[in-house]
Amino acid sequence: MTWKPIARVADVPSGTVKACRIENIPVALYNLDREFFATHDICTHAHACLSDGYLEDGKIECPLHQGLFDVRTGKALSGPVDVDLQTFAVRIEGDEVLVNVE
Ligand code: FES
Repeated sequence: MTWKPIARVADVPSGTVKACRIENIPVALYNLDREFFATHDICTHAHACLSDGYLEDGKIECPLHQGLFDVRTGKALSGPVDVDLQTFAVRIEGDEVLVNVE
């Protein structure tokens, strides 16, 4: 596994999502009640950044056509989306959030 620092814990308050980048990959980093998850930031339906979307109950709503994804699994749940999001393993080390980019 190749772990890369992506953000500081304090940069992503609980209940929010932050746009990040690892190498050339846009990543959405979510803090669900102090548990962190990461998915690809680009919607699988068209070109919209999920980090600009609406996060509630562990689901992110795409800002463009309101497609809904589970941020824990990347699963496409409803709306015009039918392709799941790529997800990345996350771990915390000190005050840094690391993402596995393999
Ligand atoms: Fe995300 Fe259409 S671009 S639902």
